[in-house]
Amino acid sequence: MKVAVVNKVGQNLDIEERGTPEPGANEVVLRQDLTGICYRDILTRDGFFPRLHTPIVPGHEVSGIIEKVGSGVEYFQVGDRVTSLIYVPCGHCYNCVSGNENLCTNKKTLGENIDGAYSKYVRLNQRSLVKVPKEVTSELAAISACVTGMLVNALKRVGGITEGSRVVITGAGGGVGTHAIQIAKAFGAEVTAVTSSQWKVDSLYKLGADHVISSEGEFNKKVKEIWADGANISLENTGDATFNEAFRSLGFGGKMVVVGNLKPSSPPLQLGVLILKGNTISGNISSTRKDIMDALEMSAKKKIKAVVSEEISIDQINEAYERIKEKKNVGRVFIKF
Ligand SMILES: NC(=O)c1ccc[n+]([C@@H]2O[C@H](COP(=O)([O-])OP(=O)(O)OC[C@H]3O[C@@H](n4cnc5c(N)ncnc54)[C@H](OP(=O)(O)O)[C@@H]3O)[C@@H](O)[C@H]2O)c1
Ligand SMILES: [Zn+2]
Ligand SMILES: [Zn+2]
Repeated sequence: MKVAVVNKVGQNLDIEERGTPEPGANEVVLRQDLTGICYRDILTRDGFFPRLHTPIVPGHEVSGIIEKVGSGVEYFQVGDRVTSLIYVPCGHCYNCVSGNENLCTNKKTLGENIDGAYSKYVRLNQRSLVKVPKEVTSELAAISACVTGMLVNALKRVGGITEGSRVVITGAGGGVGTHAIQIAKAFGAEVTAVTSSQWKVDSLYKLGADHVISSEGEFNKKVKEIWADGANISLENTGDATFNEAFRSLGFGGKMVVVGNLKPSSPPLQLGVLILKGNTISGNISSTRKDIMDALEMSAKKKIKAVVSEEISIDQINEAYERIKEKKNVGRVFIKF
């Protein structure tokens, strides 16, 4: 099978030929139709994740049918349709046993320090698996851990979204942003989507955004024109480019949930505003199996749909990375096997 590999940080991925993997103890081998390309994969290739070890097969947006089962696997059988956490949790640390396995101190992450999803067949640990209902499309199954499940975590568990919450979403035209609009709407929120790409505005309205702001710079005053009291939640998907404006869009007691950091850097923070308005800034990483199950349920009930920007073959991976860096996608780009 063809596999894309990061052999050296900062360099293009190489396409290599490898044999189909065999499952080890507690592992299964999954056959995938497709896998998502996440901006994290680009940041990983470029060396921004300190736990990266090369050579590594990138990718972590997995779904498919179990083809082989190793020794010690319980609850999963050949033929089961599953998705996977983007990491293998230890299952024993404080965070694992208190329902926050995404914060496991001993986790190993797909595409970072264990081989990931950029191949038709993938080896996965049974501790990471979640069964996928038949009503869920392959695309929504593949992004249920890193995108839709992560957004359930970010908006609900971290952001405390409720019916009628006023939510600002930056980087709204990207893979995370397009699904964030839909998840926030499914929770009953009123959504202002912020895009830096004027040509994406219509698509964002079609996905359910109540308001769309097109801006490459300031936008907090526009948010205050829409909502005099500001936002309850700002979901920050780009990092430095929009951080301050998303922060200034919050009202009193508003929460900022940071999930993206496209050009790793440290934006200045107005501490006086943070204090006087009683704002909260939280990071959020990934999802738990419970978040994935919630996202799959929303998917099965057709409350959200996959936003597919394009499908590529694995040979086109380096060109696809360039197009994503140039913001040419609306939604997720998938590798089709
Ligand atoms: N915390 C987590 O668990 C988690 C999970 C998945 C991804 N992420 C992170 O979330 C971020 C987004 O990931 P993604 O996969 O959605 O990437 P993506 O598909 O490339 O989307 C990013 C979007 O941000 C906007 N953008 C890019 N550069 C910008 C700039 N200079 N100024 C303003 N807006 C800009 C663009 O949308 P517009 O054209 O609409 O402006 C772009 O399409 C990445 O940092 C990724 O690592 C985090
Ligand atoms: Zn991802
Ligand atoms: Zn743990």
